[in-house]
Amino acid sequence: MNTIKIDLNRRFGSINRDLFGGFAEHLGRCIYGGIYEPGSQLADQDGFRTDVLEVLRRLKMPVMRYPGGNFVSGYRWMDGVGPIEARPTRPELAWETIEPNHFGTNEFVQFCRKIDTEPYLVVNCGDGDMREARDWVEYCNGAQNTALANLRRKHGFDAPHNIKYWGIGNEVDGEWQIGYKTPEEYARAYKEFAKVMRWVDPSIKLLASAISNWRAEFVERIQLLLDHAPDLIDYLAIHWYVGNRENDFANYMATSECLEERISVAESLISAMKLQRKIQRQIAIAVDEWNVWYRARGETLEERNNLEEVYNLEDALVVAMHFNAFIRHAQTVKMANIAQIVNVIAPIFTSPNGLFLQTIFHPFEVYSQTCGNVALDIFWEGETFSGGDYSGLRTLDVASTLDETKKSLSVFVVNRSEKDGLETTITLDSGQFAGPLQAHVINGPDIKAENSFDHPDTVSVYKTDLRVERKSFVYTFEPHSVTVLVCAVE
Ligand code: AHR
Repeated sequence: MNTIKIDLNRRFGSINRDLFGGFAEHLGRCIYGGIYEPGSQLADQDGFRTDVLEVLRRLKMPVMRYPGGNFVSGYRWMDGVGPIEARPTRPELAWETIEPNHFGTNEFVQFCRKIDTEPYLVVNCGDGDMREARDWVEYCNGAQNTALANLRRKHGFDAPHNIKYWGIGNEVDGEWQIGYKTPEEYARAYKEFAKVMRWVDPSIKLLASAISNWRAEFVERIQLLLDHAPDLIDYLAIHWYVGNRENDFANYMATSECLEERISVAESLISAMKLQRKIQRQIAIAVDEWNVWYRARGETLEERNNLEEVYNLEDALVVAMHFNAFIRHAQTVKMANIAQIVNVIAPIFTSPNGLFLQTIFHPFEVYSQTCGNVALDIFWEGETFSGGDYSGLRTLDVASTLDETKKSLSVFVVNRSEKDGLETTITLDSGQFAGPLQAHVINGPDIKAENSFDHPDTVSVYKTDLRVERKSFVYTFEPHSVTVLVCAVE
């Protein structure tokens, strides 16, 4: 028998909804043919795909990172503003394509406003310089009578965009990046970029590119960043991608340990540096690229970098495990951005005539719609499994939140057993259940089940309402499923 015990008073801290952020890069069909397709019968008057906007709204993404990714390390933002016919077409070195620059800063901000998300821009700290970075801040946020604020006005945007989040560089710790930087080089560059960007707009929040290359010298990198710029870093950004490379389900389900380890490592490094340098302010973690990604490489030369991953049910379980980990670390992880949103390693897949929702769309939507504002520290025990280098892992991966306004409890459970339904007693140690319980279950016929244009609902969500006792009830979690239980509490 499995047990989950919840005490509504045992709280980790508040949840920042930015955990449900997204990321759009100029890569493959994410922008062109994904969110933006002027001339399509599905596009609105501004060229945005209305079907894509509609499903993106369901994900309730509070923040959207743009324009890269590796792309940004060779990007000139000036190429992407002003009359479209005057914008230059350039070779794009990160993904070996041609960039027409028909979509740029103002189109991105328009897109964000349409889906009610906060834009988060990353500046080029690869082959770009700090002059270009601070000019971009002035162009976007300038409210005075200055050349670049006036240029924005001339381009049709009178009011400042007030972009709040600014990242400085992308994956600068990887040799694959245009303008790779050693820890020392980046720490120095970061400080100078951040300084002038803040001088242009003191209200902006800044994200440092901290760890993406987990095989490199990440301890030194974080140490140097916090040595050089303790007052200029609001978030340390980390990235990771996972996948079932060995086609071993148990091993793949043990990915939870890798997530825990990486978040804990970043937390510990920040704590150590805060202690050593007597830093009082909060320095949060932003996992500003994460997802399952390992299979997708296009078959033709032209498509080799399109990264059109097709997801299956086991990938959806792993995406749900990510959210569980973010909720369990809600005190420190204050932003997370799934990479990416459309077509490119994404929950939404389009063709010129429509779209289908990938398996991973469903956990994202249910978590985003049911997650409360407080993370609860819960107790759970029960059956275990072994996977990879780990044994004794709890088969149920569990997290829980409370919505203080709605007085509603959410319990997020991934059943990592391929074969067994797991009967579980769920008990409230304080408070009581006060209404019918709604179960949202994401499942499909088997762990390899995928969605497609022909079979869009092979993996989907179903909802049931259940009557429960006031203190405790028994629920059986289906094999290979994600279940979110939502119930009013008092
Ligand atoms: O999201 C795809 C790529 O993955 C991004 O461009 C890069 O930052 C990461 O390596």
